Amino acid sequence: MSHTDDAVPQIDTSRPSIARVYDAFVGGKDNFEVDREVYRHLLEIAPESAEVGRQCRAWLIRVVRFLAGQAEIDQFIDLGSGLPTAENTHQVAQRLNPAAQVIYIDNDPSVAAHGRALLEENDHTHLGFADFRYPEELFEHPVVADNLDLTRPVALIQCNTLHHVKDAEKPVEIMQSYIEGLAPGSYVAISHLFAPEDGSEQSKLARDAEEKFNALMGSCYFRQREEIEALFGDLELVEPGLSFLFDWWPDGPRLKPLTNGEQLLLGGVAKK
Ligand SMILES: C[S@@+](CC[C@H](N)C(=O)[O-])C[C@H]1O[C@@H](n2cnc3c(N)ncnc32)[C@H](O)[C@@H]1O
Repeated sequence: MSHTDDAVPQIDTSRPSIARVYDAFVGGKDNFEVDREVYRHLLEIAPESAEVGRQCRAWLIRVVRFLAGQAEIDQFIDLGSGLPTAENTHQVAQRLNPAAQVIYIDNDPSVAAHGRALLEENDHTHLGFADFRYPEELFEHPVVADNLDLTRPVALIQCNTLHHVKDAEKPVEIMQSYIEGLAPGSYVAISHLFAPEDGSEQSKLARDAEEKFNALMGSCYFRQREEIEALFGDLELVEPGLSFLFDWWPDGPRLKPLTNGEQLLLGGVAKK
Protein backbone atom coordinates (compact mmCIF):
# COMPACT_ATOMS: atom_id res chain seq x y z
CA MET A 1 0.00 0.00 0.00
CA SER A 2 1.26 3.47 -0.81
CA HIS A 3 1.36 6.03 1.99
CA THR A 4 1.91 8.89 -0.40
CA ASP A 5 -1.37 8.72 -2.23
CA ASP A 6 -2.98 11.87 -3.56
CA ALA A 7 -6.49 10.45 -3.01
CA VAL A 8 -7.19 12.58 0.06
CA PRO A 9 -9.83 11.18 2.44
CA GLN A 10 -12.77 13.26 3.66
CA ILE A 11 -12.31 15.60 6.60
CA ASP A 12 -13.77 14.06 9.75
CA THR A 13 -15.23 16.83 11.92
CA SER A 14 -16.56 14.43 14.55
CA ARG A 15 -13.10 13.74 15.95
CA PRO A 16 -10.23 16.11 16.79
CA SER A 17 -7.27 16.20 14.40
CA ILE A 18 -3.68 16.96 15.42
CA ALA A 19 -3.34 19.57 12.68
CA ARG A 20 -6.51 21.40 13.72
CA VAL A 21 -5.83 21.21 17.47
CA TYR A 22 -2.39 22.66 16.73
CA ASP A 23 -4.03 25.35 14.63
CA ALA A 24 -6.12 26.31 17.69
CA PHE A 25 -2.92 26.22 19.76
CA VAL A 26 -1.15 28.74 17.49
CA GLY A 27 -4.23 30.98 17.26
CA GLY A 28 -5.51 29.92 13.81
CA LYS A 29 -9.09 29.74 12.54
CA ASP A 30 -9.11 26.44 10.61
CA ASN A 31 -10.36 24.36 13.54
CA PHE A 32 -13.69 22.99 14.76
CA GLU A 33 -15.39 22.83 18.16
CA VAL A 34 -14.15 19.26 18.65
CA ASP A 35 -10.55 20.53 18.24
CA ARG A 36 -11.06 23.59 20.46
CA GLU A 37 -12.41 21.27 23.16
CA VAL A 38 -9.05 19.43 23.25
CA TYR A 39 -7.21 22.75 23.30
CA ARG A 40 -9.34 23.98 26.23
CA HIS A 41 -8.40 20.84 28.20
CA LEU A 42 -4.72 21.57 27.52
CA LEU A 43 -5.20 25.15 28.69
CA GLU A 44 -6.57 23.83 31.97
CA ILE A 45 -3.32 22.05 32.76
CA ALA A 46 -0.99 24.51 30.97
CA PRO A 47 -2.53 28.00 30.86
CA GLU A 48 0.62 29.24 29.11
CA SER A 49 -0.14 27.11 26.02
CA ALA A 50 -0.78 30.11 23.76
CA GLU A 51 2.66 31.51 24.62
CA VAL A 52 4.19 28.10 23.95
CA GLY A 53 2.49 28.04 20.54
CA ARG A 54 4.00 31.43 19.68
CA GLN A 55 7.45 30.21 20.78
CA CYS A 56 7.13 27.18 18.49
CA ARG A 57 6.37 29.30 15.42
CA ALA A 58 9.06 31.85 16.35
CA TRP A 59 11.63 29.02 16.56
CA LEU A 60 10.65 27.72 13.11
CA ILE A 61 10.94 31.21 11.65
CA ARG A 62 14.43 31.73 13.12
CA VAL A 63 15.56 28.30 11.94
CA VAL A 64 14.34 28.86 8.36
CA ARG A 65 15.91 32.33 8.34
CA PHE A 66 19.25 30.77 9.34
CA LEU A 67 18.95 27.98 6.78
CA ALA A 68 17.91 30.18 3.84
CA GLY A 69 20.31 32.95 4.86
CA GLN A 70 23.64 31.96 6.36
CA ALA A 71 23.44 28.30 5.38
CA GLU A 72 22.37 29.22 1.80
CA ILE A 73 19.92 26.34 1.56
CA ASP A 74 17.46 26.76 -1.30
CA GLN A 75 15.47 23.51 -1.00
CA PHE A 76 13.19 22.73 1.95
CA ILE A 77 11.03 19.78 2.94
CA ASP A 78 8.70 20.73 5.79
CA LEU A 79 7.29 17.44 7.11
CA GLY A 80 3.99 17.57 9.00
CA SER A 81 3.72 21.20 7.99
CA GLY A 82 0.28 21.66 9.54
CA LEU A 83 -2.31 24.22 8.54
CA PRO A 84 -1.02 27.51 7.18
CA THR A 85 -0.57 30.17 9.82
CA ALA A 86 0.83 33.69 10.07
CA GLU A 87 4.37 32.97 8.84
CA ASN A 88 5.05 29.79 6.95
CA THR A 89 8.33 28.21 5.87
CA HIS A 90 8.08 29.34 2.24
CA GLN A 91 7.35 32.95 3.18
CA VAL A 92 10.39 33.12 5.44
CA ALA A 93 12.72 31.29 3.01
CA GLN A 94 11.52 33.08 -0.12
CA ARG A 95 11.85 36.50 1.48
CA LEU A 96 15.59 35.80 1.58
CA ASN A 97 15.71 33.80 -1.65
CA PRO A 98 12.65 34.08 -3.93
CA ALA A 99 13.83 31.00 -5.86
CA ALA A 100 13.89 28.74 -2.78
CA GLN A 101 11.83 25.57 -3.36
CA VAL A 102 9.60 24.56 -0.47
CA ILE A 103 7.75 21.26 -0.23
CA TYR A 104 5.13 20.83 2.48
CA ILE A 105 3.99 17.35 3.48
CA ASP A 106 1.09 16.42 5.75
CA ASN A 107 -1.28 13.47 6.06
CA ASP A 108 -4.23 15.38 7.51
CA PRO A 109 -7.10 15.92 5.05
CA SER A 110 -7.78 19.34 6.63
CA VAL A 111 -4.31 20.49 5.59
CA ALA A 112 -4.89 19.24 2.05
CA ALA A 113 -8.22 21.09 1.92
CA HIS A 114 -7.38 24.37 3.66
CA GLY A 115 -3.66 24.42 3.01
CA ARG A 116 -3.48 24.39 -0.76
CA ALA A 117 -4.37 28.04 -1.34
CA LEU A 118 -1.53 29.39 0.75
CA LEU A 119 0.90 26.49 0.87
CA GLU A 120 0.98 26.40 -2.95
CA GLU A 121 0.85 30.12 -3.62
CA ASN A 122 3.68 30.18 -6.18
CA ASP A 123 5.59 27.90 -8.55
CA HIS A 124 8.28 27.22 -5.96
CA THR A 125 5.90 26.04 -3.25
CA HIS A 126 4.13 22.66 -3.25
CA LEU A 127 2.03 20.58 -0.90
CA GLY A 128 1.98 16.77 -0.89
CA PHE A 129 -0.45 14.53 0.95
CA ALA A 130 1.74 11.79 2.43
CA ASP A 131 2.73 9.96 5.59
CA PHE A 132 6.23 11.00 6.65
CA ARG A 133 6.82 7.67 8.46
CA TYR A 134 7.80 6.16 5.10
CA PRO A 135 10.96 8.04 4.02
CA GLU A 136 11.75 5.96 0.91
CA GLU A 137 8.25 6.53 -0.46
CA LEU A 138 8.43 10.18 0.45
CA PHE A 139 11.67 10.77 -1.48
CA GLU A 140 9.97 9.21 -4.50
CA HIS A 141 6.71 11.15 -4.15
CA PRO A 142 6.29 13.24 -7.33
CA VAL A 143 5.94 16.45 -5.32
CA VAL A 144 9.44 15.85 -3.93
CA ALA A 145 11.10 14.11 -6.87
CA ASP A 146 9.80 16.58 -9.50
CA ASN A 147 10.59 19.76 -7.59
CA LEU A 148 13.79 19.09 -5.66
CA ASP A 149 17.27 18.08 -6.75
CA LEU A 150 18.13 15.54 -4.08
CA THR A 151 21.75 15.42 -5.21
CA ARG A 152 22.07 18.92 -3.72
CA PRO A 153 21.65 20.01 -0.06
CA VAL A 154 18.15 20.15 1.36
CA ALA A 155 16.80 21.33 4.71
CA LEU A 156 14.50 18.72 6.21
CA ILE A 157 12.24 20.12 8.92
CA GLN A 158 10.39 18.11 11.56
CA CYS A 159 8.83 20.87 13.67
CA ASN A 160 6.67 19.39 16.45
CA THR A 161 5.93 16.27 14.45
CA LEU A 162 8.01 13.31 15.65
CA HIS A 163 6.34 13.33 19.08
CA HIS A 164 3.29 11.98 17.24
CA VAL A 165 5.27 8.89 16.21
CA LYS A 166 5.17 5.96 18.64
CA ASP A 167 8.40 4.26 19.79
CA ALA A 168 7.09 1.08 18.13
CA GLU A 169 7.07 2.94 14.80
CA LYS A 170 10.80 3.55 15.26
CA PRO A 171 11.24 7.31 14.93
CA VAL A 172 15.07 7.01 15.13
CA GLU A 173 15.10 4.61 12.17
CA ILE A 174 12.73 6.85 10.23
CA MET A 175 15.09 9.79 10.74
CA GLN A 176 18.13 7.63 9.90
CA SER A 177 16.58 6.84 6.50
CA TYR A 178 15.97 10.52 5.85
CA ILE A 179 19.51 11.40 6.90
CA GLU A 180 20.98 8.71 4.62
CA GLY A 181 18.93 10.01 1.69
CA LEU A 182 20.07 13.62 2.05
CA ALA A 183 23.04 15.03 0.14
CA PRO A 184 26.11 16.17 2.10
CA GLY A 185 25.68 19.77 3.23
CA SER A 186 22.00 19.17 4.05
CA TYR A 187 20.47 20.22 7.36
CA VAL A 188 17.94 18.57 9.66
CA ALA A 189 15.85 20.70 12.04
CA ILE A 190 13.77 19.05 14.77
CA SER A 191 11.65 20.37 17.60
CA HIS A 192 10.06 17.88 19.96
CA LEU A 193 8.08 17.69 23.23
CA PHE A 194 10.46 17.13 26.12
CA ALA A 195 9.98 15.12 29.33
CA PRO A 196 12.70 16.17 31.80
CA GLU A 197 12.04 13.11 34.10
CA ASP A 198 13.89 14.77 36.98
CA GLY A 199 11.06 14.99 39.49
CA SER A 200 10.61 18.69 38.73
CA GLU A 201 7.34 20.59 38.28
CA GLN A 202 8.00 20.54 34.54
CA SER A 203 8.40 16.78 34.50
CA LYS A 204 5.01 16.37 36.20
CA LEU A 205 3.44 18.78 33.72
CA ALA A 206 4.92 16.79 30.83
CA ARG A 207 3.39 13.55 32.12
CA ASP A 208 0.01 15.21 32.86
CA ALA A 209 -0.11 16.82 29.42
CA GLU A 210 0.87 13.56 27.71
CA GLU A 211 -1.79 11.64 29.59
CA LYS A 212 -4.47 14.24 28.87
CA PHE A 213 -3.59 14.51 25.21
CA ASN A 214 -3.52 10.75 24.73
CA ALA A 215 -6.84 10.30 26.51
CA LEU A 216 -8.42 12.91 24.26
CA MET A 217 -6.89 12.02 20.91
CA GLY A 218 -3.93 9.66 21.16
CA SER A 219 -0.37 9.62 19.83
CA CYS A 220 1.58 12.27 21.66
CA TYR A 221 4.86 11.32 23.31
CA PHE A 222 7.09 13.53 25.44
CA ARG A 223 10.66 12.19 25.17
CA GLN A 224 13.83 12.59 27.19
CA ARG A 225 16.79 14.64 25.96
CA GLU A 226 18.85 11.60 24.87
CA GLU A 227 15.90 10.21 22.93
CA ILE A 228 15.47 13.49 21.07
CA GLU A 229 19.21 13.76 20.42
CA ALA A 230 19.13 10.26 18.91
CA LEU A 231 16.76 11.52 16.20
CA PHE A 232 19.67 13.47 14.68
CA GLY A 233 21.71 10.25 14.25
CA ASP A 234 25.41 11.06 13.99
CA LEU A 235 24.90 14.50 12.50
CA GLU A 236 26.62 17.40 14.18
CA LEU A 237 24.31 19.87 15.89
CA VAL A 238 25.07 23.49 15.10
CA GLU A 239 25.45 25.88 18.06
CA PRO A 240 23.83 26.04 20.60
CA GLY A 241 22.91 22.35 20.21
CA LEU A 242 19.61 20.95 21.42
CA SER A 243 18.06 23.71 23.53
CA PHE A 244 14.79 25.14 24.79
CA LEU A 245 13.21 26.77 21.75
CA PHE A 246 13.65 30.28 23.14
CA ASP A 247 17.38 29.69 23.64
CA TRP A 248 18.01 28.73 20.00
CA TRP A 249 19.43 32.04 18.74
CA PRO A 250 16.73 34.26 20.25
CA ASP A 251 15.94 37.61 18.66
CA GLY A 252 16.99 39.37 21.85
CA PRO A 253 17.64 38.89 25.54
CA ARG A 254 15.10 37.02 27.62
CA LEU A 255 13.20 39.51 29.76
CA LYS A 256 10.89 37.03 31.51
CA PRO A 257 11.62 33.62 33.01
CA LEU A 258 10.53 30.70 30.84
CA THR A 259 7.15 29.27 31.85
CA ASN A 260 6.93 25.57 32.69
CA GLY A 261 5.28 24.88 29.32
CA GLU A 262 8.11 26.60 27.44
CA GLN A 263 10.54 24.19 29.11
CA LEU A 264 8.75 21.20 27.61
CA LEU A 265 10.09 21.55 24.08
CA LEU A 266 13.61 21.14 22.75
CA GLY A 267 14.82 22.09 19.31
CA GLY A 268 18.00 21.79 17.32
CA VAL A 269 19.52 22.00 13.85
CA ALA A 270 22.19 19.65 12.58
CA LYS A 271 24.32 19.50 9.43
CA LYS A 272 25.24 16.46 7.33
C1 LIG B 1 1.72 19.60 16.04
S1 LIG B 1 1.42 19.81 14.35
C2 LIG B 1 2.84 20.79 13.85
C3 LIG B 1 2.62 21.61 12.60
C4 LIG B 1 3.83 22.42 12.12
N1 LIG B 1 4.96 21.55 11.80
C5 LIG B 1 4.24 23.43 13.12
O1 LIG B 1 5.15 23.18 13.89
O2 LIG B 1 3.60 24.49 13.15
C6 LIG B 1 1.85 18.21 13.70
C7 LIG B 1 1.53 18.05 12.24
O3 LIG B 1 2.12 16.83 11.79
C8 LIG B 1 1.18 16.15 10.97
N2 LIG B 1 1.51 14.73 11.03
C9 LIG B 1 1.49 13.93 12.14
N3 LIG B 1 1.85 12.69 11.81
C10 LIG B 1 2.11 12.71 10.48
C11 LIG B 1 2.54 11.71 9.55
N4 LIG B 1 2.77 10.47 9.95
N5 LIG B 1 2.71 12.07 8.26
C12 LIG B 1 2.47 13.35 7.85
N6 LIG B 1 2.07 14.33 8.68
C13 LIG B 1 1.89 14.00 9.98
C14 LIG B 1 -0.18 16.50 11.57
O4 LIG B 1 -1.22 16.31 10.66
C15 LIG B 1 0.04 17.95 11.96
O5 LIG B 1 -0.31 18.81 10.91
